Amino acid sequence: MIQFVHNYVRSQIGSELTLLGLHGTGGDESEILGLLGAIDSGASMLSPRGKSTEEGVNRFFRRLAEGVFDMEDLEARTQELGEWVEWARKTYTIKKLFAIGYSNGANIATSLLFMRPESLDGVIGLRGMTAYVDEAANLRNKPVLLLSGDTDPIVPHGDVKGLAEALVAAGANVQHEWLTTGHGLTQQDVQIAQEWLAKQG
Ligand code: MLT
Repeated sequence: MIQFVHNYVRSQIGSELTLLGLHGTGGDESEILGLLGAIDSGASMLSPRGKSTEEGVNRFFRRLAEGVFDMEDLEARTQELGEWVEWARKTYTIKKLFAIGYSNGANIATSLLFMRPESLDGVIGLRGMTAYVDEAANLRNKPVLLLSGDTDPIVPHGDVKGLAEALVAAGANVQHEWLTTGHGLTQQDVQIAQEWLAKQG
C-alpha cells in the first residue's frame, strides 16, 4: 500500500459516518475540510492529497488537456487510492464511508466506486464528469448524488448525463440535479448535499 498525505479528524459526537473529501485541481487535503464540515459537521473526516503534480498543482490523476484524461494513469491512480482507502478503513475503524468530491475529486470518486464498489458506501460528486466507468460493476443500491452546473464551461451536459446513466445501469441509486451556476460551488450545493445525506440513514 502506498501512503497518501492526509488528514483524519474523528467525529466529536461519535457519528458512524466518515466523509472522504477529494479536492479539486489545485486544492489539498486541508482546504476540502471546510466543505465537508459545512455539509456535515458531526461526521468524521478523511482527506488525502492527490499525487498527480505534473501541472504543478495537486490532482488525483493526470490529464492530457482540460477534460481529456490519461486513462492509464487514471486507472492506476484509482487502484492506488482504493488500496489506501482499504487501509484507512481498517486503521481508523471506519464503518460508513461516503466520498464527497469536487471536480477532479468527483471524477476519481466515481471512478473508485466503479472500480472498487466495496470501498465506498456512497458518493457525492460535485461538478464531476465521466472518468473511469464500468457498467458491469455491481453498484446495487449505492447512493450517488451528482450536482452539476448548467452553465459549467468545463463539463459538457451530455457527458455528465452519460455518467449518471452509466451509474444507473450499474444499479446505483442516483439523484442528479442541475443548478443554475457554473463550475464553482454555491450554498445550494451545500444545502442539497446536507438534505440528501441526512436521508441516507
Ligand atoms: C478539473 O479542472 O479538475 C477538471 O475539470 C476535471 C478533471 O480534470 O478531472
